[in-house]
Amino acid sequence: MKTVQNSPITLNDLKTPKGKFLSGNLNDFKKKNKHRILEDWAKEYGELYTIKLGPIKALVSASTDLNAAILRQRPTKFRRLSKIDEVFVEMGLHTVFNAEGAHWRKQRKPVSEALNVKKVKGYYPIIQSKVQNLITKINSYQNSEESVEILHDFIAFTIDVTTEIAFGYQLNTLENKEDSFQNHLELIFPTINKRITSAFPIWRYFPSKKDKSLKKSLKAIEEIVNGFIKDAKKRLENDESLRANPSNFLEALLIESEKENSVFDEKTLYGNVIAMLIAGEDTTSNTLAWTLFYLAQYPEIVTKIRSEALSVYKNETPESYDQIAELKYTNAVIQEAIRLKPTTPILFFQANEDVVLNNVSIPKNTSIILQNTFATMQEENFSNANEFIPERWLKAECPYLQNHTPKAVKAFGGGPRLCPGMHLSITEMTAAISSICKQFDISLDEDAKNIHENFAFTVHPENLKVKFKKVVS
Ligand code: HEM
Repeated sequence: MKTVQNSPITLNDLKTPKGKFLSGNLNDFKKKNKHRILEDWAKEYGELYTIKLGPIKALVSASTDLNAAILRQRPTKFRRLSKIDEVFVEMGLHTVFNAEGAHWRKQRKPVSEALNVKKVKGYYPIIQSKVQNLITKINSYQNSEESVEILHDFIAFTIDVTTEIAFGYQLNTLENKEDSFQNHLELIFPTINKRITSAFPIWRYFPSKKDKSLKKSLKAIEEIVNGFIKDAKKRLENDESLRANPSNFLEALLIESEKENSVFDEKTLYGNVIAMLIAGEDTTSNTLAWTLFYLAQYPEIVTKIRSEALSVYKNETPESYDQIAELKYTNAVIQEAIRLKPTTPILFFQANEDVVLNNVSIPKNTSIILQNTFATMQEENFSNANEFIPERWLKAECPYLQNHTPKAVKAFGGGPRLCPGMHLSITEMTAAISSICKQFDISLDEDAKNIHENFAFTVHPENLKVKFKKVVS
């Protein structure tokens, strides 16, 4: 990289991996492991480089400091890539995730409030009952020693938790997959990924079979959610006390929508309720699946989680929210799975104006990709960075590992738009992983080498099949 003393680095000073004549690096960018390709390029070309996506030159940053600064300076200097908004809006999704500026600020407040620590504590009985359903489901497998595609059950589990928290509805997707949201929702993330990386909106002119199915699924989701909205409106009309104490996220937003100058019109109301499902489902279920991927390879870690569970709670699942905080080792296991296999390893942004940040000059409208796994795999940030060592997250056991930089992990983003669902998802995951390990031994039904990362806006494990064996107590 060429640097003139004191003058900022420009995009033209940065290296670009060799690509094709017209499409540039687009082919690599469409691959399932694009996040790892970007990580490898950071090793080869440095923490900052550019890539060519057809006619667009994008900045890729794997720098911990620059990434943190970009995340912090929102919504003023940076925004999500405008194409994300375009794709979301075309799918009828007007949500806090794709809103910007003042519009975003107004939506963010009630969304964050609905997911704060106090609220999550109140939601705990819902989480516990869904974890119990998950354990019952896994029990049914171990009787027949079945090989299980556990990701599907984790998706159903997160949908069941979120629908009850968001709408007050008990869907029990874990038991009734056919008439559930799951089949519809499973189409959304892959489509977002495909459309964001597409140079031309071909689906608008020549919709494929998948595009047509997506349209039907979006319609079906809209009908189900509109039914929920109608019911919530009736509840609010009939029970005045709900206005002071809404019993779920949808009721809280409906009350918010009645205020003067509210941003919650029909579209944003629908969008934000559905955003809870979209944002909370794949991310949490993928992370659970990646955690199991490691646990199936390290039985001694499962045993340690089990001892912790036995010392903290009596039943099959943690009985109270306060017990979750006591499951420190289980939490450390999840943190370590997130470090090595973040479901959100790259994030897409755009500069709102010409900005010089950390001595890098970024022109207005530059597309920026934050690559976050390069930093988490560096020895200077984490000793023995390639190894799965949950103990590094426990203060008492950490000293033998010299390097430990939690701020390098950006799986939940950062700054004012840090994932508002982080606490909810960590609570769900801790309760689920602890309960599973308390009851079952886990093994992989496939060589770990054959389980691949598939980036479809979030990263999920492909081919993950596991077996459960009930522990005799
Ligand atoms: C392991 C689980 C999860 C991961 C890894 C994750 C990751 C992320 C990331 C990377 C962002 C972007 C943050 C940024 O731009 O700085 C985000 C935003 C968001 N997440 Fe999560 N998330 C998870 C679970 C959840 C859950 C359970 C919910 C709610 C039920 C949720 C709701 C949201 C919302 C509403 C946003 C948009 C926030 C905004 O733009 O202001 N997430 N999440």
